[in-house]
Amino acid sequence: MEANITLIKGDGIGPEIVNEAVKVLDRIASLYGHKFNYNEVLMGGCSIDEYGIPLTDEAVKTAKAADAVLLGAVGGNTDTSPWYKLPPEKRPEAGLLKIRKELGLYANIRPAILFDELRHSCPLKESTGEKGFDFVIFRELTGGLYFGERSTTVVEGKRKAVDTLVYTEDEIERVARRAFEAAQGRRKEVCSVDKANVLDSSRLWRQVVAEVAKDFPEVKLTNMLVDNCAMQLIANPAQFDVILTENMFGDILSDEASMVTGSLGMLPSASLGEGRFGLYEPSHGSAPDIAGKDKANPIATIMSSAMLLRYSFGLSKEAESIEDAVKSVLKEGYRTGDIFSEGKTLIGCKEMGDRIADKISK
Ligand code: NAD
Ligand code: IPM
Ligand code: MN
Repeated sequence: MEANITLIKGDGIGPEIVNEAVKVLDRIASLYGHKFNYNEVLMGGCSIDEYGIPLTDEAVKTAKAADAVLLGAVGGNTDTSPWYKLPPEKRPEAGLLKIRKELGLYANIRPAILFDELRHSCPLKESTGEKGFDFVIFRELTGGLYFGERSTTVVEGKRKAVDTLVYTEDEIERVARRAFEAAQGRRKEVCSVDKANVLDSSRLWRQVVAEVAKDFPEVKLTNMLVDNCAMQLIANPAQFDVILTENMFGDILSDEASMVTGSLGMLPSASLGEGRFGLYEPSHGSAPDIAGKDKANPIATIMSSAMLLRYSFGLSKEAESIEDAVKSVLKEGYRTGDIFSEGKTLIGCKEMGDRIADKISK
């Protein structure tokens, strides 16, 4: 097949990790006879430096016209970078929120799988080592606290900041449906995570999810409060199949989930709306502390490119061959610093990309 992919390398380690994923995609293209055409747009701090804003309308237009988008990460050190002296709507992350909203990407899928090869570096090996785990988080991505009205004012000489958390039933229903559909092809369990003991938005969330569940009688629905879920993810991650949750809870729980797989550098993600178009990115950020040092783990981005092939292009076999290549490089003992343990071979970002690309076979 021939397809167009927009690359958004972003800031920090973004360019390093996207370059490795492109290496892998190019290897797939030449082995399987596909043609991937790339174009590149700026987003985040690099776009602020070039155009004064984190995402131009032109960049959104280019991304919209592509078949899929592959993204690295945006942002800098939030304490020291000059980008954070700008008002919030002009900061790097505003570009990410804008592109998700404008492309209608309401379902963010973040799979957490414990690779056999990393069982020993899992910090929770006592509770998970024997059983392993394989769950996926469906995070609502274009509503909630991230997109509600916000303001900072001074009232009677005191500063006051307000963020609002809004959900409509339509926003809840569409992401819930995607989660139930995914559960049908897995272990048929959805755990919906909310804070219904406190929040109205969570009570509506729980009602709407229960209504959607009626259309999927073979899928078992349970509800869990978010604080308990944060604990259960560490105590017994194997209990989860599909976790369905709102935007902010999903952001926090997915970083936690990534760490139980061994490292933040391992967790890919897909952001989908209606149709096949999607935006694919690692769940982690721009890691300014290790940027430009060839230390980043490119696996989350490489696995995101496998999700791109599977979800946007329907190329499951090619996606599997990327996942298999990642496993065999890990099996051979090669590790970037974040997943390194004694007795293994420490390598850099580029070498990890090279080794994975070399292992891809038809
Ligand atoms: P981060 O995810 O960038 O880094 C957290 C820690 O994990 C750091 O120690 C970093 O070195 C390490 N890490 C992250 N990815 C890694 C990888 N691939 N390989 C090895 N180590 C890795 O989170 P942060 O430090 O809180 O945020 C830094 C910047 O990234 C902020 O500006 C934040 O807004 C932005 N951010 C962007 C995205 C995105 O673009 N999707 C996501 C999260 C954070
Ligand atoms: C993520 C990131 C973003 C989010 C930030 C950078 C806006 O943390 O993709 O997980 O909170 O969604
Ligand atoms: Mn996050």
